[in-house]
Formats: sequence, C-alpha cells, structure tokens
Amino acid sequence: NIEKMDIVKIMFEELRNQKHVHIRDWDFVKSTIENMVKDGPDKLQVVADFDRTLTKYMNNGTICATCHKVLEEGDHLPEFFRTKTKELRDTYFPLEMNPDLPVSEKIPLMIEWWTKAHELLVHCGLTKQSIRKMVETSSVMLRDGTVWLFDHLHANDIPTLIFSAGIGDVLEEVIRFKATHHSNMKVVSNYMAFDECDRMVGFQGEMIHVYNKNENAVHESNYFTSLENRSNILLLGDGIGDLHMADGATNVKNKLTIGFLNVKIEESLELYMSKYDIVICSDETMDVQKASYYHGL
Ligand code: TMP
Repeated sequence: NIEKMDIVKIMFEELRNQKHVHIRDWDFVKSTIENMVKDGPDKLQVVADFDRTLTKYMNNGTICATCHKVLEEGDHLPEFFRTKTKELRDTYFPLEMNPDLPVSEKIPLMIEWWTKAHELLVHCGLTKQSIRKMVETSSVMLRDGTVWLFDHLHANDIPTLIFSAGIGDVLEEVIRFKATHHSNMKVVSNYMAFDECDRMVGFQGEMIHVYNKNENAVHESNYFTSLENRSNILLLGDGIGDLHMADGATNVKNKLTIGFLNVKIEESLELYMSKYDIVICSDETMDVQKASYYHGL
C-alpha cells in the first residue's frame, strides 16, 4: 500500500507540472484519488462518455469522426445525407459548445439537431452489415491509451458504463474494431431499429442527446442499484451534460470527474473548472501526454 501511495504522489506531482491540466481544488482531488486507491478496484466503477472522451477530437491537426460523422465519411450513404448532415453540424455544433448559451436554451436546439439527423438516416438505405465497413474506413480514433484503459478496467473487473448520445451500433463497432468489447462494459446509447431485411428503419426507445443524460432509463433501471457496493465513481466526459451520467448512482463515497476540454478552450475553461474536478485541455491521450509514470513505474 505504501508503494501505491508513493505512485499516487508522483502522479500527482506530474499533474501539477502539466500546464494543460486545470484543477479547482487540488486538496480535494488529491484526497479523493488517495481514498479511491485505498479502497481498491472492488469499490470502483467508471462512467464515461464516448465521442471526444474515449475517442480523439483531433489527430495531427485533423478533426476525427464522432459516431454520427462515421456515417457521413466516404460514399457509403447518399450525397444528400452528407450535405444535409454537414449543414446541421455546422449550425448546431457551435451552439452545443457555446459557453455563453445556457443549457436550458441548448436543450431544444439539441433535440432539433438529433431529430433532424436521425430522420435523415431513415431515408438512406443503411443496412446493419454496412456499419462495420464504414467504421473500418472512417477517421474515428480512440484516444491514445484507451485500449490500455479498457484492458485494465477489464482485468480488474471494474464495471464501466459508456453513456453516449452518439449511435450505439456505430460505437460498438468502433470498440470491436479498435479495441475489445469486454464483459465489464455496458453501453447506453441511441440504437438503430432494423427491419427483417436488416435495413435501418429508425431508432429504438428514447432519444439520448448531450443534455438529457440525467433523464435516461439507466438511472431508473437496476444498473446503478446493482453496483451500490461500488461507492467510488470515476466519471469521464467532454461536455457539461456528461456530468449527469452517474446521477442514478446511490451510496457514492468518492466521485472524481475528469473533463476533456477540446474546443473553445479559453472561453470555456472557467465554466469547466467550476464543474469538473480535473480539466484536461487539448490532450488526445488517456495518460496526460504520456506522463512518465505511465512508462516508468
Ligand atoms: P457523445 O454523447 O458520445 O459525446 O456524442 C454526442 C456528439 O455527437 C456531440 O458532440 C454531437 C455529435 N453529433 C454529430 O457529430 N452529428 C450529429 O448528427 C449529431 C446528432 C450529433
């Protein structure tokens, strides 16, 4: 245990030395990490967003695909779909990321975006089988270190909820193609509905957008109640709405939230620092730019 705490100390000092890591309350973060390490893997659960949290925002200066964007790349789907969805993204993504727009005003706009994008998809003749091809040829990339993180969470049997406003069918294919879909992972997302010929005909259940992650059925299901003994939560997100992904959890003793701030960094930093315990800016890794503890210890 002493050895573990020494590692925590070194990791913590490394964090302090990173200019792109911002922490509002260093003492809180330090004691929370220490508590979590002391309690060990049996008490831990992880809740993570997918797009731009487990995946990269940029790679070598190029923006990488989100789950939705995977379907727009290449020429798998008709031209009108690409044109129209790009128009939608150019309109709504800046609104999603605008720190000056209150969440209450963003919600109807996000519902509009998701509704229009999902309706368009129904007219594209998409099949279940074609999703894999689209993922294989797309620019979607897992953050450096995500495979390592997934494998460690699995090896330590730590329940991991991936809660995404993206598209579950695409997300699962990305995980299978780029990593391993381990048994400790549960995905809650928008899943497509297919007809008997495997043609996409719509979406199943309630729509999940970036600002209703507090309302989804997972909070009423027995997911979190079955994990009541897992009183330590590590939450990873990139949006303000992601902070609600673990709202259904009960008996929480320690919760550490890590926010990846990828766009409008200067304008959003204050807001993110007031909401997330740790804010990591423009970093496409899971190990804070490959801090040396990852390699050395
Ligand atoms: P997340 O909950 O996994 O972060 O996924 C939501 C992201 O998906 C959000 O940042 C906006 C993005 N998105 C698109 O790129 N295209 C679309 O058509 C829609 C509806 C969302």
